[in-house]
Amino acid sequence: MTHSFGGKWAQEKLNKVGSYLQTYATALKNQKFHLIYVDAFAGTGYVSLKEKDKSQLLLPEFTENDVKDFVAGSAINALEVKPPFDEYVFIEKNEKRISELNNLKSDYPNLADKIFPISADANDYLRNFCQGDWRFKRAIVFLDPYGMQVKWNTIEAIAKTQAIDLWILFPLGVAVNRLLRKDGKISEPVKQRLDEMFGTQDWFEAFFKEKERRSLFDIQRGFEKTANLDSIAEYFNKRLESVFAGVARNPLKLHNSKNNPLYLLCFAIGNPNPKAKGLALKLANHILQMR
Ligand SMILES: C[S@@+](CC[C@H](N)C(=O)[O-])C[C@H]1O[C@@H](n2cnc3c(N)ncnc32)[C@H](O)[C@@H]1O
Repeated sequence: MTHSFGGKWAQEKLNKVGSYLQTYATALKNQKFHLIYVDAFAGTGYVSLKEKDKSQLLLPEFTENDVKDFVAGSAINALEVKPPFDEYVFIEKNEKRISELNNLKSDYPNLADKIFPISADANDYLRNFCQGDWRFKRAIVFLDPYGMQVKWNTIEAIAKTQAIDLWILFPLGVAVNRLLRKDGKISEPVKQRLDEMFGTQDWFEAFFKEKERRSLFDIQRGFEKTANLDSIAEYFNKRLESVFAGVARNPLKLHNSKNNPLYLLCFAIGNPNPKAKGLALKLANHILQMR
């Protein structure tokens, strides 16, 4: 069993993160760090690359599909990396998918004692995971949500370790741009979700300007959207820059087959060491611009 998530763009995302994982594992193989791969929205291990873009509006779960055209998802991508990581943490809140992630232990018997499927909310688990002593540990965290599930304080906790490289899929077109209504009339619950995702309320000022509508009798004040996909993408990347030591300057827009941008694939590194940061950013920038 697998689940459906996207078309070519999803494969592109998996290829890019996979390339980074492979080069990272090779580069760090002679260092004495305990290496952890964390897939915080792990899925099942397999995905069907069918276009399901219409159903991706505003964070729905996709229907399970017993399809045959499945490919390796992000968890398997990581398990295929050689040399292997010392630990694979697969976080997933859907119980059915957790049992499929458990099956990966028999698919990869040599890695079975390194595979830890965790049934939890990604934000709760990660904030706890990031605490403690990171001097002898390094990790790559991949945040691959459908929508706006990642909270800013999770991103902050990841950055604070100064030991984690982060790949994150930001829901640029599937959620954020759609929620920023042209007239600025955004409901309180949606505002709250955006606040939690951006970790600030100043997104409103960045994306809207005040507008006066004059009639014969009065002046009505309201707002007008000034944001577009590029400015939203730039805003989010700047938010990452405010907490991470380094952030790739060319995050990648992932488009569906109709050329609508769905997500933004971003990379950030917590390690402030200039050499480590320089190498990681050079690699991530290269991977992001590869076609
Ligand atoms: C886009 S899919 C992941 C695809 C996967 N990375 C892959 O390439 O195979 C998102 C997954 O996150 C899970 N999920 C949604 N909200 C979650 C949360 N708050 N914590 C953990 N998992 C969550 C969903 O059940 C779904 O399996």
